[in-house]
Amino acid sequence: MIGTSNGKFLGIVTDKDYRPSKDNLDAPIDDYMTKAEDTISAKKGTTLSEANDIIWKHKINCLPILTEEGNLKYLVFRRDYEERKNNPNSLLDEDKRYIVGAGINTRDYEERIPALVKAGVDILCIDSSDGYSIWQKRTIDFVREKYGDSVKIGAGNVVDREGFRYLAEAGADFIKVGVGGGSICITRETKGIGRGQASALIDVVSARNEYYEETGIYIPICSDGGIVHDHHITIALALGADFVMMGRYFARFDESPTKILKIGNNYVKEYWGEGSNRAKNWQRYDLGGDKDKLSFEEGVDSYIPYAGPLKDTLEVTILKIKSTMCNCGAITIPELHEKARLTLVSDVSISEGKAHDVILKEIDNSYKN
Ligand code: IMP
Repeated sequence: MIGTSNGKFLGIVTDKDYRPSKDNLDAPIDDYMTKAEDTISAKKGTTLSEANDIIWKHKINCLPILTEEGNLKYLVFRRDYEERKNNPNSLLDEDKRYIVGAGINTRDYEERIPALVKAGVDILCIDSSDGYSIWQKRTIDFVREKYGDSVKIGAGNVVDREGFRYLAEAGADFIKVGVGGGSICITRETKGIGRGQASALIDVVSARNEYYEETGIYIPICSDGGIVHDHHITIALALGADFVMMGRYFARFDESPTKILKIGNNYVKEYWGEGSNRAKNWQRYDLGGDKDKLSFEEGVDSYIPYAGPLKDTLEVTILKIKSTMCNCGAITIPELHEKARLTLVSDVSISEGKAHDVILKEIDNSYKN
């Protein structure tokens, strides 16, 4: 806890100095605080590596950075340093802040986008089940008129060449592919619309490559929805996607914001579609008309098996992707696009590709993913 008065740094109270009990809840904080004059601090302008040196030298957990006037400007924590060391692949900007993206819709973009930009968002993405629409073009136009190219905005979702061209010509910075393939999605069942994810990707990737040849503009493609096994990620990349979006994959872990529940003997987490009654995200799935009386769902509310902390599983997933890339002789994703060979497979090939005709002993979890 940091004490300040009108911005002036007064001191620090750590949990070692003060543990709340029934006797000290009303005690003045001054009794427990290490005062500013006794605190190790540094001046604004100190680099991160200098700040870390001070933290290590004085064996402190937190270093306040103060202005000339003694006002608190920043806090540098020892655990941030450790976190960076443990997670060297974190996506950070030049000021070492996490890159943050935000989903937007085509309704309230005139209020939402300026607020997000003001808050420091790095990437915007129009999150919609039907990207091939004039509304998306208007949203992109709004961004270009107001911010030029300085704000990055992706659009989607589309499943064919026409949809891709429309959003590419509208100026989307990246384009998401996939309608109807999500694990919680019932769009195809309820409306009969959508397309197999691989067919959609093949079509859009070829349109993207054609567009690149024509204009010199390379538009990254995101494969969104339907990834069940780790190798599905590699297949999406091999088909020409530049990155993937996953719901079910991430929803299983501690880090997703739902509770762990016990159903029978299994631990599960909840995961529901944005078009389910539970989410009622009508900015994404708008049916028009009276929403209370006339509506239907495009997504389900479900459970998925709980899978512990993200890091362990993600590391194995990435290892598998890299290993398959090596098999293809590719060390970058563009190289994988070029070198991967995709062939049609028969049902027999799929069954023989699994363990077969043996009695399995125990298998480890990474095999199932
Ligand atoms: P998953 O990775 O297979 O779980 O699919 C996640 C994707 O499904 C999301 O990124 C969305 O594009 C899509 N999605 C989310 N909610 C719904 C829904 O209610 N209906 C249809 N698609 C949805």
